[in-house]
Amino acid sequence: MTQRIVNFAAGPAVLPVPVLEEARDALLSLGNTGIGILEHSHRGKAFLAVYHETVARLREVGGIPDDYDVLFLQGGASSQFFMVPMNFLPREQTADYLVTGAWSEKAVAEAKRFGTAHVASSSKDRNYCYIPKTHNYSSHPAYVHFTSNNTIFGTQFAKEPDIPKDTLLFCDASSDIFSRPIDVPRYALIYAGAQKNLGPSGVTLVIVRKDLVAQAPKDLPTMLQYRTHADNESMYNTCPTFGIYVIGLVTKWIKSQGGLPALEARNRAKADKLYAALDASRIFKATADRDSRSLMNVTFVASSEDLNNQFLKFAESQGLDGLKGHRSVGGMRASLYNAFPPEGVDALVDAIKRFESQHA
Ligand SMILES: Cc1ncc(COP(=O)(O)O)c(C=O)c1O
Repeated sequence: MTQRIVNFAAGPAVLPVPVLEEARDALLSLGNTGIGILEHSHRGKAFLAVYHETVARLREVGGIPDDYDVLFLQGGASSQFFMVPMNFLPREQTADYLVTGAWSEKAVAEAKRFGTAHVASSSKDRNYCYIPKTHNYSSHPAYVHFTSNNTIFGTQFAKEPDIPKDTLLFCDASSDIFSRPIDVPRYALIYAGAQKNLGPSGVTLVIVRKDLVAQAPKDLPTMLQYRTHADNESMYNTCPTFGIYVIGLVTKWIKSQGGLPALEARNRAKADKLYAALDASRIFKATADRDSRSLMNVTFVASSEDLNNQFLKFAESQGLDGLKGHRSVGGMRASLYNAFPPEGVDALVDAIKRFESQHA
C-alpha cells in the first residue's frame, strides 16, 4: 500500500483509517451480500438497513431529537445558501445574517434573491479575523443565520450567538459539525457539507425542525423543498448512497472514540498545541484573534511571503501536505478535523521549530 502522509487539507479531508478500511472492503461486497456498496440499489433491503442505521447513529451521536428531520441532500452546502431562504424567507420578510467570512457572504447573496437579508454583524473590517461579539438584529427576523466555523479565515464561534427570544437559529456547520457536542434544540436548522468531519463530498447533512418543514411553501420546485426529502427518507430521487454509508461508518467511529465530548477534548488538545507553538514563535503567528480561534482550521503566516513559501516547501519535504492557506488569508492553514491524528500536529510543531532554528 502507498504510505499515507499527513493531510492538512481543508476538505475533502482526512477520514479515520478504520472507516476507509471498512469502506474499501464494502466496495466489493457490503457485508456478505456479494454486491458492493456502490452497486446496491438505494431501494434495496441492504441499503435501506445502512440508511436506517446511519440516521439512528447520527441521532444518537449528535443528540438529534425526534422532532427534527435528518436529511441527506446533494448540491453541497452551497445549495443550502439558496434552499434555506427559498423555503424559510418570505419575500416581505427579513432574515439576519452574521457575516464572518466568504461562506456567509455567499449565503447573504443568495438570501437577497428571496427576501431582505440584513447583515446583523460582520468582521469584514479586519479581513474576518474575529467573531463579532455583538449583533444588530432587525426587529422580527425570519431567522438568524451564522457560520459556526470559518474554514478559510480560521475563526469559530465558541458558542451559539445570543439571539432575540423566540427567533429561529440557522447554522452552516460545514466545517465543525460533530467536532464538539451540539445543543440541537437551540437550532431550527443546521446544515453541513460532509467532506470535512462526516464523510466524502457529494452529500450534505441537514438537520431541520419538522414543524418548519411542514409550514414551508408548497409551490417551490419539488427537489428544492425540504418537505420532499423529509417525506421520502431522502430518497425522492437516487440518494448519495456511498456518502450516506460512509457517514454511517464515521458515526460508528465517533461512538468508538467516546462520542462528541471526547472528540472535543481531543480537538482542543490538538489545536492548543499548535497555537502554543505559534504563540511562542519568532517567525510565525496565528492570523485569528485569540478569542475567535478555530479548533478546526488553524490559519497562520510567517513574517514574510518568502518565508511562507519556503516553509510550505519544507513542510512538504517532511510529508506534511495541504498546508497552503486560502488566497484570501495567505500563509498556511492546518485543518485539524476529527480524524486528523494528534501525531500530525506533533509533526507540524516539530517542523515549525526546526524551520525556525534555521531561519530565525
Ligand atoms: C463553512 C462552509 N460553508 C460552505 C461551504 C461550501 O460547501 P460545498 O462545497 O459543499 O458547497 C464550505 C466549503 O468549504 C465551508 O467550509
